[in-house]
Amino acid sequence: MSATTLSAAAIAELNQSLGSGTSLTARIAAIAAQVPGRIAFSTSLGIEDQAVLHAISDANVFIDVFTLETGRHFPETLDTLDASEQRYGLKIRAVYPEARDLENLVARDGINGFRQSIDDRKACCEVRKVRPLNRALAGASGWITGLRRDQSAGRGAVPFAERDAGTGIIKLNPLADWTLAQLEAYIAANDVPINALHGRGYPSIGCQPCTRAVRPGEDIRAGRWWWENEDGKECGLHNRPAHAKPEAHEHLKGAAS
Ligand code: ADX
Ligand code: SF4
Repeated sequence: MSATTLSAAAIAELNQSLGSGTSLTARIAAIAAQVPGRIAFSTSLGIEDQAVLHAISDANVFIDVFTLETGRHFPETLDTLDASEQRYGLKIRAVYPEARDLENLVARDGINGFRQSIDDRKACCEVRKVRPLNRALAGASGWITGLRRDQSAGRGAVPFAERDAGTGIIKLNPLADWTLAQLEAYIAANDVPINALHGRGYPSIGCQPCTRAVRPGEDIRAGRWWWENEDGKECGLHNRPAHAKPEAHEHLKGAAS
């Protein structure tokens, strides 16, 4: 799937240069300089990704910026997309689920089928997020995300650069070592536009039906898929098993096109 591969030594070098205390803009510039081929940035329009977007603009390098438009986002998220395009004068590619996949899923599970079981929730994420992600990343060499280690225990070991087990692409996490306090200071110092929901108790924002506000002191991901156990709360974009393919999802067969 990856257009260009980097050697293990080159990935180690990248990890070192990204972790050497440089600014976010310098990290983005290093990624652009060291990863050959197309580099894509997946943005959820959340606070982390808005910082990365600002740095991409500041570094003045070409990165293919895309968002997975699941069809179930908050209006505030789409407003953030619009505001960001205007502020930075760039296009954020909206990647949609395949219509036939979506029609089959909804015909089988219902419009809010993700409430029925964890398998049905994962099937919805598969059709609305994971398959479109695979399509958006096809042919790319690098994939930038806004993952941070202190977002959750499961993300505690996120490296700056690694080969993604699912796609083979070099996955780049330039905010890996940033704390929330650092992130908020960066947003304020640079007057970066952010999703209005962050100010209303939503530290982590996904699709509307699967995201709620958290109470003061609650974990920052406590509002995501809150009815599920802590250890299963990933949608399949990250922590994918090696060589994962959408077709490997037994439960989805009826929803596949
Ligand atoms: S999720 O897997 O639980 O949804 P989270 O919201 O924490 O992830 O975001 C982590 C990273 O995943 C983001 O920084 C972004 O790179 C990517 N991501 C999450 N949701 C989307 C989306 N809708 N579109 C594009 N990228 C996304
Ligand atoms: Fe579907 Fe919820 Fe996953 Fe969005 S987060 S794709 S609505 S299950």
